[in-house]
Amino acid sequence: MEVVIVPDATAAGELIAEAMATLMRRKPDALLGVATGSTPLPIYQALAAKVRAGEVDASRARICQLDEYVGLPAGHPESYRSVVLREVVEPLGLGEDSFMGPDGTAPDVQAACAAYDTALSDAGGVDLQLLGIGTDGHIGFNEPCSSLASRTRIKTLTRQTREDNARFFDSLDEVPHHVMTQGIGTILEARHLVLLATGEGKSDAVAHAVEGPVAALVPASALQLHRHATVVVDEAAASKL
Ligand code: GLP
Repeated sequence: MEVVIVPDATAAGELIAEAMATLMRRKPDALLGVATGSTPLPIYQALAAKVRAGEVDASRARICQLDEYVGLPAGHPESYRSVVLREVVEPLGLGEDSFMGPDGTAPDVQAACAAYDTALSDAGGVDLQLLGIGTDGHIGFNEPCSSLASRTRIKTLTRQTREDNARFFDSLDEVPHHVMTQGIGTILEARHLVLLATGEGKSDAVAHAVEGPVAALVPASALQLHRHATVVVDEAAASKL
């Protein structure tokens, strides 16, 4: 695992956007796995700026989702489908046909999870998967005690994660209890994992993930098992390393 410490979130965004651009220059139809939450937004802004400036051609890139709420209508502004379309797909000038994600509205959620795992494999696998980290060490929506070999499946959110994500909704009651997430085993199949954490609030989770034992209690610690994992942290998030 490579740990890169940068001064701030803007520098992190620029660094990771350049890594994504480099990948697309080498492999124009790269499958890019994106994460939601506030942390990766500077990456998407920096990457879109590179596309607008003509520094990279993203027209053949493919985008895939990490996780999704169960039961929110697809057009709900906080469904992760809507977020990824708004924050990544549209700013890169791509269309919905360049994008894939788990169907949180499917009548059979289990089947939709299995179908998403298959679709990722059929697409040739994820070339670069971006990850954030929850304050409890989760990646995607793999909460503590998730199996390190897990596949895409339905999970129940902890109260902590629902509270962390309530800022995107009008009230805590509106935050769904159930989600679909790429499993930790699924995530580990990506060719390159890039985890970004910024801010003091992530410092404990980062320290446990990077320097603690590999344990289901800290899902992000599974990155220690991957042969090409990069953890990018600002100085605040790195403060307990
Ligand atoms: C959600 C997402 C994660 C993300 C986490 C942290 O739980 N499912 O993929 O890493 O939020 O979000 P933030 O970056 O806003 O702290």
